[in-house]
Amino acid sequence: MNNKNNLNKKNYKKQSGKLILQLKNVCKTFIQGGNKLEVLKNANLDAYSGEIVALIGPSGSGKSTLLHIAGLLDKQSSGNIFIDGNDCSALSDSVKDNVHKYYMGFVYQTNNLMNDFTALENVMMPLLIAGEKKKNASVIAKDVINMMKLSNRENHFPMQLSGGQQQRIAIARAIVNDPVLLLADEPTGNLDPATSDEVFQQLVDIVKNKNLCCILATHNPSLAKKANRVFIMLRGCPVEVNNDNLKLLKADPETKELIKHFI
Ligand SMILES: Nc1ncnc2c1ncn2[C@@H]1O[C@H](COP(=O)(O)OP(=O)(O)O)[C@@H](O)[C@H]1O
Ligand SMILES: [Mg+2]
Repeated sequence: MNNKNNLNKKNYKKQSGKLILQLKNVCKTFIQGGNKLEVLKNANLDAYSGEIVALIGPSGSGKSTLLHIAGLLDKQSSGNIFIDGNDCSALSDSVKDNVHKYYMGFVYQTNNLMNDFTALENVMMPLLIAGEKKKNASVIAKDVINMMKLSNRENHFPMQLSGGQQQRIAIARAIVNDPVLLLADEPTGNLDPATSDEVFQQLVDIVKNKNLCCILATHNPSLAKKANRVFIMLRGCPVEVNNDNLKLLKADPETKELIKHFI
């Protein structure tokens, strides 16, 4: 990707079913204590606008690594990452910053909200960083907080919110810039089951309403079932759970247990 303008959000027309994220033969090897740890091995993945792709697999199977690489937060050892058709495999930091500002939203297991700022100020922050005027940022942020059904909490500080409310504010912050790609790493992993279901359902609704492309890592099969498609990490590759791949998935004992939830 040499032309910055290709990643200028203004050129992006929102529509469902558009190929947004493409990973091609992505490998990631960590060197630890002199040992090579091949976490991703020729990983391929296509994800489209308007869908949630769930990425499941046991702890340590490479879900977060894949999300970090898709989010251009970590560099792949080899292979390519395309976002909205643009090769993002080796961008300069300034272009990468633009991609983060205009194309991506992130939600993590821990909400990373800034404790000294109110919920509203937290949600306004990405807009201000992207150069939006304060008054306008406040209007947009309030609208998104309203969408998350938390208007009556916008002047609360994070510590004054429940875990579920904090995570809903974190989601509001992730989508306030109207991203194209939403990367969510165990977004409800710290919540009790009932709250987790509720927050997850809000995420599902937002992805649909806003035509986002969402890649969501979870180790919870019952949440993954609500996604449009499910991939299981198998020996460093995300493998889609579908009839074509059943034989392959069943050959691995751990995966065999996991896919029982989906077939
Ligand atoms: N920065 C790093 N340096 C060395 N090893 C790492 C690093 N990040 C992750 N790993 C290793 O990569 C593997 C996959 O980790 P991760 O992607 O976090 O898995 P998951 O999210 O599925 O639990 C683990 O064995 C982990 O220890
Ligand atoms: Mg992880």
